[in-house]
Amino acid sequence: MPYAHITGWGISVPEPVLTNDDIAKMVDTNDEWIRDRTGIRERHIAREDEFPSTLGIDAAVKALQVANLAPTEIDLIICTSSSPEYIFPATACIIQDQIGATKAGAFDLLAACSGFIYATNMAAQAIRSGSIKNALVIGTETLSRFINWKDRNTCILFGDGAGAFVLQASEKPGGVLSAVMHSDGSGADSLTLLGGGARHPATETTVHEGKHYVQMDGKAVFRFATRVMGQAAKEALDLANLTTNDIQWIVPHQANYRIIETAAKYLKMPMDKFVINVDRYGNTSTASIPIATVEAVQNNQIKNGDKLVFVGFGAGLTWGALVAEWTGPLPSTSRRHVHPEQYRFFARLRSFVRRALRFIEGLFSRREL
Ligand code: COA
Repeated sequence: MPYAHITGWGISVPEPVLTNDDIAKMVDTNDEWIRDRTGIRERHIAREDEFPSTLGIDAAVKALQVANLAPTEIDLIICTSSSPEYIFPATACIIQDQIGATKAGAFDLLAACSGFIYATNMAAQAIRSGSIKNALVIGTETLSRFINWKDRNTCILFGDGAGAFVLQASEKPGGVLSAVMHSDGSGADSLTLLGGGARHPATETTVHEGKHYVQMDGKAVFRFATRVMGQAAKEALDLANLTTNDIQWIVPHQANYRIIETAAKYLKMPMDKFVINVDRYGNTSTASIPIATVEAVQNNQIKNGDKLVFVGFGAGLTWGALVAEWTGPLPSTSRRHVHPEQYRFFARLRSFVRRALRFIEGLFSRREL
């Protein structure tokens, strides 16, 4: 049975920064309160021309560069987002087209902030089963578009960004070692974005009622998160026959510093084993775990051979954890150096030609009908 290794990684974060002081100009809050209750100092907010697909494409190409893998070799793309580009088509398909992943199947996975753990596990399982060799997992968000900037309960928390992993099959032991996924829909009301779906299609009323914004019972989510984070990490470790002593790093979902502290206490692990960057990014939902991981790799914290636990929670309610051995890019079988970024030009050209052909085909088929 092949192993599923994480062989490439990349992130894309919008440049504009929104500080707590900036938010204090919009709602009745202040920097001290936000830092005390959440640990957040600032977050990045997408520009008008940045979307989940554009951030996701950038992160994906960087991940392919690290893995030295051509987009044409990807078998499966799973994009996970709490702020997808559309209800359909899937953001994954837009990314597939724009990076030139010509043979990949692509779909979106919705598990809110647990999405990256769910998606990485699904991709790893597809590789472990032998049905595919190369997968791309992307978590990407422009949640700022769904935030009510007059609601101090939510607008202090979230930020935008994207992260991607490449997963590849190898006979060498390592990579994804175990994972657990959980859900409890009885807590669905705690964190919602109700408008625009089939239950509340967009109308003037849904707009007036604020149904197109994120709504949250902060205390309920806080209680749920502190209950499940440590438990899920422990469960995934048990499945992999490991203990916290075998682990070099825990990469938690970056929602709130205090929630991470509670998980550390539950696991009896020091805070310096936790990768934390919530102070600079806020909660980037599905992108938070890959953004934290990639920063830790770039800062030389996470090294090849390290064992890590990814653990997260979110709306649904959903939660989960995944244990992985960080092995880095697979040793190249050929000396060929791939330039995934160069495929973008051909991908755009190919997309344009296919649209043109579809248009011409439409003209002829109309005459036939
Ligand atoms: N600035 C200043 N004061 C604020 C405030 C803000 N942004 N938001 C709330 N307050 C006030 C409240 O009105 C309340 O005042 P009161 O005591 O006079 O009524 C007081 O601060 C305490 O509010 P409370 O809601 O109890 O704060 P809290 O300690 O629960 O913190 C959250 C609020 C949102 C930071 C916290 O509940 C949380 O982080 N929850 C989890 C959210 C989360 O992670 N969501 C994403 C999941 S993926």
